Amino acid sequence: MADLDTIVSLSKRRGFLFPSSEIYGGLGAVYDYGPLGVELKRNVRERWWNAMVRDHDNVVGIDAAILMHPTVWKASGHVDAFSDPLIDDRASGRRYRADQLIEGAIAKLEKKGRTDNAAALQARFVEALNADNAAAALGQIIQDEEIKAPDSGAFDWTEVRQFNLMFETATGALAEEASKLYLRPETAQGIFVHFKDVAETARQQVPFGIAQVGKAFRNEIVARQFIFRMREFEQMEMQYFVQPGSQMDAYAEWAEKRMAWHVANGIRADKLRWHDHEKLAHYADAAKDVQYEFPFGWNEIEGIHSRTDYDLSRHQEYSGKKLEYFDPQTNERYVPYVVETSVGLDRTILMVLCDAYTEEEVGEGDKTETRTVLKFHPALAPFTAAVFPLVKKDGMPEVAHAVEADLRKQFNVTYDEKGAVGRRYRRQDEIGTPFCITVDGDSVADGTVTVRDRDSMAQERIPAENVRRYIEDKIDAWAPAA
Ligand code: GAP
Repeated sequence: MADLDTIVSLSKRRGFLFPSSEIYGGLGAVYDYGPLGVELKRNVRERWWNAMVRDHDNVVGIDAAILMHPTVWKASGHVDAFSDPLIDDRASGRRYRADQLIEGAIAKLEKKGRTDNAAALQARFVEALNADNAAAALGQIIQDEEIKAPDSGAFDWTEVRQFNLMFETATGALAEEASKLYLRPETAQGIFVHFKDVAETARQQVPFGIAQVGKAFRNEIVARQFIFRMREFEQMEMQYFVQPGSQMDAYAEWAEKRMAWHVANGIRADKLRWHDHEKLAHYADAAKDVQYEFPFGWNEIEGIHSRTDYDLSRHQEYSGKKLEYFDPQTNERYVPYVVETSVGLDRTILMVLCDAYTEEEVGEGDKTETRTVLKFHPALAPFTAAVFPLVKKDGMPEVAHAVEADLRKQFNVTYDEKGAVGRRYRRQDEIGTPFCITVDGDSVADGTVTVRDRDSMAQERIPAENVRRYIEDKIDAWAPAA
């Protein structure tokens, strides 16, 4: 697998992602999607929406605003408890997350084969996370284990402090009349507060789900690893409302579906695993993450959480509005339990880029070269097809443009007539275009074209009028090369 720097450099060079406001020196942990990145992101988002909403007649969507009444965040617990345990290295002035330092120490012990020590430290870590004063307990571990600062190598730490991650803003023109608002740190609360509206207007009965894709903001202090941890990012969340008591079945069902979704997107199954939460939130009765093995180690992509009736009950309490449901099947009235699936869109993009990135030797003898290919699932690729006239004359551009126009009715397509065909293939390989269609002299004479497959590099000659159907069939049948 490529290292992260390679992915960052390709992303910038080819226009997937740019650091935000780079001409001013950039803005930490904020990134902008370029022309290819925005297409990739749209495709991932659409596949999620189709899998979650369009494929389930009991899941519907909403699109709530980023700004919400500030009491929402009091009720949800974010004002009081949405924080990270931070610690400063006095030598360098750099700030770290205490929990991540300890996780790093555990990983180091495991790597050295000291599995007993790693297990003991892991047990102590879990205990600390669940302690009343988790910050102090984590700080004590760092001291006892003599964990050094990763960058400076120093062992000169401040105390651990809890730092709230929500960004604040204000509404109102005059400072004295302004009231504090928050940029939402998760999309989920927009779903909870509309639970009743949606159930009634969409005529849904429990069990049913509400899905949403949208921006979320967190003032991540330790924001590294490219788009893995951002201050502004997008989440794709679904809250599934169930009868109390049936949440574990729903939890198992959605966990299975979510893992299958990642695999169906072409992510290698051996790079995905489940990770049970070390610390359950006080309101949760089960929680686990889908993790992917990034170049910087195994990390969370998606969380599946069984959140009981905590959120709806809290909103009921703080708003004074009943959020109960009358179940016509059982004639009971209850506050539904919720199973949540929550995946980061940007993190999924980073996983898709890392997983697709391949370098391979091609050619023979002294004519070998390294080609860089993004082996995306073709349904995710920014361009589904590239169309080339072999040369810019003899009627080839006209035929090529006609093929391009036909494909554009269904797919995102690019046209390229510059340079040798081999170089044009390499350009498309590097951005993951699964199909290259070349129009040559025979095409002008008999209406056939060659279609070159990105992964096998095999070429097939087919009638130009069949290309659209051919690509459609190939996408449906696509499976990653073994
Ligand atoms: N509503 C539940 C919730 O927000 P979470 O585990 O805090 O749960 C869910 O976040 C997902 O959102 C994560 O698995 C991750 O993919 C994504 N995510 C969270 N913080 C992020 C950040 N700072 N940058 C990018 N993605 C993030």
